[in-house]
Amino acid sequence: MTERPLVRMTGIGKRFGGVQACRDIDLTITAGEVHALLGENGAGKSTLINILSGVITAYDGTIEVDGRPVSFAGPVDAQRAGIATIHQELDLVAGLSIAENMFLGREPRTRLGSVDIRRMRRQAAEHLRTLGADLDPRRLVGSLRVGEQQLVEIGRALSLDARVLIMDEPTAALADAEVERLFETIAGLRRAGVGIVYISHRMAELEVIADRATVLRNGRLAGTVDPKTASRDEIIQLMVGRSVDALFGEGRNEPGEVLLDVRGFAVTPRRPTPGRTEPAGVDLTVRSGEIVGLAGLMGAGRTELLETLFGAGGSGRRTGEVTIDGRPYHPHGPRAALARGVAFVPEDRRGAGLMLEHSVAENVVLSALSSLTTLGVVRRQAVRRTVAEQLTSLAVKAASPAVAAATLSGGNQQKVVFAKQLLTQPRLLLLDEPTRGVDIGAKAEIYRLLHRLADTGMAILLASSELPELRSLCDRVVVLHRGRTVATLPRASATQQAILAAANGDDAKETR
Ligand SMILES: Nc1ncnc2c1ncn2[C@@H]1O[C@H](COP(=O)(O)OP(=O)(O)OP(=O)(O)O)[C@@H](O)[C@H]1O
Ligand SMILES: [Mg+2]
Repeated sequence: MTERPLVRMTGIGKRFGGVQACRDIDLTITAGEVHALLGENGAGKSTLINILSGVITAYDGTIEVDGRPVSFAGPVDAQRAGIATIHQELDLVAGLSIAENMFLGREPRTRLGSVDIRRMRRQAAEHLRTLGADLDPRRLVGSLRVGEQQLVEIGRALSLDARVLIMDEPTAALADAEVERLFETIAGLRRAGVGIVYISHRMAELEVIADRATVLRNGRLAGTVDPKTASRDEIIQLMVGRSVDALFGEGRNEPGEVLLDVRGFAVTPRRPTPGRTEPAGVDLTVRSGEIVGLAGLMGAGRTELLETLFGAGGSGRRTGEVTIDGRPYHPHGPRAALARGVAFVPEDRRGAGLMLEHSVAENVVLSALSSLTTLGVVRRQAVRRTVAEQLTSLAVKAASPAVAAATLSGGNQQKVVFAKQLLTQPRLLLLDEPTRGVDIGAKAEIYRLLHRLADTGMAILLASSELPELRSLCDRVVVLHRGRTVATLPRASATQQAILAAANGDDAKETR
């Protein structure tokens, strides 16, 4: 490319205490390209784009925009220079509406100077429509699901009319249909000459939309490739420095007795909460040693079902039958759920999974303290050993177990949430998007771990928006549509097509 790049970053370096997050990185962004940024969890991707977007202001190296050196005092400065960013961890205000969030700090004004609420709502609705999101701009962001919040965040970035758009894992919480819409939007921006930086751990996406891919490894530049011609192996080699062998073990054990049995289960709330899809006729079983997948579009009620099974769902009249080991199970709170051997790894790690200001070690042991306590005394040695074991087995990248969880990269935070739940030694493990934001090497680790856990007799129920993940990991896939079970597909017939058809409500037949 001979054209002058929109952005040129040269010799970028950043150190956090003892961690060198970025070292001597060069990166250019050209008008009309989709430039993918790849690397394992903790490789330095978010740090690099936080520097470009003005979030981090102290760093080594230089940044030029249109050939002119810039130094941003903060995110607003970067936005003024035409750089819009969708951050990995959503930063929306729960107590404000969708429209207010989108235009926060730059609300359209009437001629008399007051906020033009109508115009703000209309514009917000337009941006949402572009993304195929049918959301009322007046709704409070706090009432939205993670995936919907992500769409709001994307809409906000679009509304900035930026020349450079940075997206840090924008599809992590989106279901396939929304991803497709987003890709159409990206294609449109690209044609309009916007330069796009795209971070994702979903390899298949890159082949579809990226023009160039820059790979980081341990904070350094590992190489730049053309994702349309480079093989997946080549890219993974650059990312992890070795090849990752087959992600999916074969030869699983035969499942045992039915552990969880859910029949005609429904929750009828006294007053429905907008945006929530309560269980409305769920039938499913999970045997000991079995991994069952939950598929469905955004809003199908997968998260709500998992929450309810963990006693953390909405209130309301419950009908139908839920048993564990053949005994009635009325999950009225997480404590009761844990007592019956049920653990839950939620999707929203920041909200529900982690205490960010606490150390990694504290986060990991918290739920298992009772088993590590003798007569009220915490056995420190045991705690230290247990934490170390968990962190190693999941390959968590942290300077030490004593650092605050907030300082870990996004994917590593996810692994900590996982480690924490496993320590409770559950018999039934409920997982909501367990590999969201996790890199490909760690994903393989988590898949292996889930297989190992299932082989010890654990029952696993897992919701995922990644169809390949469901297909390769699960013994059976249960498809939900509007809170109901619409299909139960054994592994062999759980094709992408069959899952999608059922998820769209095309075919409401049961194939047990
Ligand atoms: N505020 C901080 N304080 C201390 N260390 C930090 C901070 N932010 C990032 N780090 C460290 O810098 C390294 C790079 O983190 P970064 O978030 O850039 O990774 P990433 O490539 O975005 O990973 P992921 O795919 O998991 O999101 C990690 O080792 C992380 O722990
Ligand atoms: Mg990151």
